[in-house]
Amino acid sequence: MNKIDFLDLGYQPLANNYLKLKNKNKKEKKYRLKVCFDTYTKLVSIKKIFSSKLMFNNQYPYRSSMSKTMIKSFKNLSFFIKKKFKPKKILEIGSNDGAFIKNFAKKQTIGIEPCSNVEKITKQKKFNTYPEYWSKKLSKKILNKNGKVDVIYSANTISHIKDLNEVFNAINLILKPNGVLIIEDPSLIECLKRNTYDQFYNEHIYVFSTLALENILKKYGLKIFRIEKLKIHGGSNRYFIKKKEGKKKIQKSVDIHKKEEVKFGINKIITYKKFSNRVKKSKKKLIEIFRTLKRQNKKIIGYGATAKSTTILNYCNIDTKCINYFLDTTSDKQNKFTPGTKIPIYKYVKLNKKEIDYVFLGAWNFKTEIFKKEKKFINQGGKFIIHTPYPKII
Ligand code: SAH
Ligand code: TMP
Repeated sequence: MNKIDFLDLGYQPLANNYLKLKNKNKKEKKYRLKVCFDTYTKLVSIKKIFSSKLMFNNQYPYRSSMSKTMIKSFKNLSFFIKKKFKPKKILEIGSNDGAFIKNFAKKQTIGIEPCSNVEKITKQKKFNTYPEYWSKKLSKKILNKNGKVDVIYSANTISHIKDLNEVFNAINLILKPNGVLIIEDPSLIECLKRNTYDQFYNEHIYVFSTLALENILKKYGLKIFRIEKLKIHGGSNRYFIKKKEGKKKIQKSVDIHKKEEVKFGINKIITYKKFSNRVKKSKKKLIEIFRTLKRQNKKIIGYGATAKSTTILNYCNIDTKCINYFLDTTSDKQNKFTPGTKIPIYKYVKLNKKEIDYVFLGAWNFKTEIFKKEKKFINQGGKFIIHTPYPKII
């Protein structure tokens, strides 16, 4: 056995399974969220894996366009791609509500998004999108219709798919020999450094390091030739990947990232055991903060009912005794309850210090954007509770 468990985040519900009022008191399915490290491939993954159909279906609540940060990041990347690679055809895996593909001409793009409730947003705008899971079969179907593509982009999606064999074989079928695959996902080293254990939940099957991704890609004749470090989602890596026969030069950034990871100990189990201890301490500290504030009768609400916060709330047993309600801009989450902890979620309204004392930042990954938006609340003396890099009030 190469896989060693290093983190136990207790019993958890499905992270994006926001409860309707009529189901609030029904028993929820829970599973034990454990995280393991493969000493052979260096891949970090969760242990219990659910079927894609259970997680990504026509009820999927997540919308990329809810954040200005994401919209801007996709826009900047699209400028870069157009300038650098001049693609005739670009395919996106996990195109969600079209936040990325909308930056390209309609006939230039192909979007793959299995959740038909979000896929239809792009389809209605006449983009060429498929409400299907990425697979060899789908890749062949598109290939026969459109030919090979110059660029494939996939953000925060490959880490959600169990069968990487299918993913990369399907990519190889449709990518031109000198084409570019761009993958963007939360970075393992940043997760470990910032103690963001909430990167682990049922949809995030993997949190990639460069070392692990390189090991996987090599089986499919794929090679990383450039890496960009991004602030997105609390620290992500954007990997630029080519086929073996591709002509792109391997840039220095690849070696820099690998060396940094080795220095940090990404390849050693002891690093993960230490992380696990820090997570336990983080839990204690966060609970202590809530207890102290509740003893002082402070009113606390949550901001951004993220899938990530499902892990924190359930792991730390934070429920309506601590947080009165969450605010979220996503209409599909509003008037529902957080999975497991059953905290009500309401439509976003600007924060007001007269009504609220403290705000637990579920969407900590959009801190800069949110602090800008809530300047008035902050100037009035309103405070936030955040769990990364350690639980504190800011
Ligand atoms: N790329 C967007 C959305 C990320 S959320 C962004 O970065 O903001 C993950 C998306 O991956 C969801 O929209 C989900 O439906 C999609 N997804 C999950 N499994 C998939 C699969 N097997 N094939 C294609 N897309 C998938
Ligand atoms: P994510 O961390 O999974 O991307 O989810 C972010 C959540 O936070 C999503 O439900 C939308 C919500 N949100 C707000 O409510 N207000 C905001 O200003 C931002 C940026 C996000």
